[in-house]
Amino acid sequence: MTPGTIALIVVAVSVGLWGLFMANIAIRRERKVAFAATGPSGTATRQAPAPPREETTPEEKPEVTVQKVPEKQLKPLTPEQMGVSRRQFLNRAVSSTFMTFLGFFGMGTLSFLWPKVLGGFGTEITAGGYDDIIKQVGPEGNFAPLFIPEGRFWLTYYDGTADAAVYAAIGAKEYKLQALYRKCVHLGCSVPHCGTSMLFECPCHGSKYRLNGEYYGGPAPRGLDRFPVTVRGGKVVVDTGSVQTGPPRGTNTWPKFSEPVGSLCVPV
Ligand code: FES
Repeated sequence: MTPGTIALIVVAVSVGLWGLFMANIAIRRERKVAFAATGPSGTATRQAPAPPREETTPEEKPEVTVQKVPEKQLKPLTPEQMGVSRRQFLNRAVSSTFMTFLGFFGMGTLSFLWPKVLGGFGTEITAGGYDDIIKQVGPEGNFAPLFIPEGRFWLTYYDGTADAAVYAAIGAKEYKLQALYRKCVHLGCSVPHCGTSMLFECPCHGSKYRLNGEYYGGPAPRGLDRFPVTVRGGKVVVDTGSVQTGPPRGTNTWPKFSEPVGSLCVPV
């Protein structure tokens, strides 16, 4: 969902709430007016007609009749009273201004907080055509890993048993490819690949990782972290926004590269 869509939703919800609020006020007001015009029984309140006068002589004592007067006679509101009073107008103006301010404030906050990453590290990176990459990093290319600077990861071939939870999460078994985060899990140095040992060897404190990123030696607490790999339309897509924690020490799922194949680049 784009930030624009979210901003629209916020505005629509604010306007909807405002509409409901105003409708509620209008309904209550109409009910009040109707109540005033008809009384609590729902029938129009009318004054009882006065009884006809009778001619009386002075000798005759007029008969006194007591007529019950309604306790309180409610008058219907005049058109002026039913219109919008100055106080109501001011209340509505203040409420509208406040709601508008809230809407803009909400949009501003959302747009400030919403991540604006539109490419590069932290997003999905298309590394290239799947067949070309497999040729380059697989047996045909002597298993030489391919570094993708834009995503800060190494693409390496993988043909192990995948007996660690992380392999299922990154699609390594399915595509025979891994995207290894080049950041050393010890203290964060960039880890280069050593072409002679076929290990990743950290120049800072000498941590070493196998070609598949599993821990081999040094102070690192685990294997290299990695990113999920998928193939879409024949292209390798790596999601660098979803770092998967590397496998624990002692994991060894590909015997072919479990030991260095030549001399070390960082002999520590
Ligand atoms: S940062 Fe890599 S071994 Fe310390």
